[in-house]
Amino acid sequence: MKFFIDTANLAQIKEAQDLGILDGVTTNPSLMAKEGITGRDNILKHYVDICNIVDGDVSAEVIATDFEGMVKEGEQLASLHQQIVVKIPVIKEGIKAIKYFTDNGIKTNCTLVFSAGQALLAAKAGATYVSPFIGRLDDISSDGLNLIADIRLIYDNYGYETQILAASVRHSMHIIDCAKLGADVMTGPLLSIVGLLKHPLTDLGLAQFLADYNKGN
Ligand code: E4P
Repeated sequence: MKFFIDTANLAQIKEAQDLGILDGVTTNPSLMAKEGITGRDNILKHYVDICNIVDGDVSAEVIATDFEGMVKEGEQLASLHQQIVVKIPVIKEGIKAIKYFTDNGIKTNCTLVFSAGQALLAAKAGATYVSPFIGRLDDISSDGLNLIADIRLIYDNYGYETQILAASVRHSMHIIDCAKLGADVMTGPLLSIVGLLKHPLTDLGLAQFLADYNKGN
């Protein structure tokens, strides 16, 4: 499974990259605003800064909601850096734009996906990634993981190559569950990634090994 970090925070992106396990980054307008990155020029520069830290795909979201606007904006984003993946919402105009970018060899991430039907259309349009938001479904008492399972089944039934990018991951167990269900990628906060390392028996065992070593030295 590929690991993406879901943030626009450069320090956290660098920390994840330094771990050696990072495959890419996802951002969205809210994550940019959270870091105080506002204004078109600053946002574009920030995408380039992110690309210069990581080796893999970096999702950059369009703001336009009409086909022409999405194409114009997406082409500008894609021209920033070869690692940029154009992130497009799963609306009617968005599906048209994804098809356009697919036909023109530009990678896309179809975002704000909350149903299997939306994911099916994204795959038919040739999206590189589809982003089901599992945490936000959990927030409204729906089961986000069920959606991952449904999309996996549908994509496997027809051999769609669109990669399932489990998004809105909120904790380490989401990552484990998504891996069990066969999600191709997960994107989550740094805490949920390093949380995978946590086990009290590891801490106790290491402390014991060090104490025993020090007895003889
Ligand atoms: C995905 O690409 C989104 O940026 C993100 O995962 C949304 O997560 P949230 O529901 O925690 O805001």
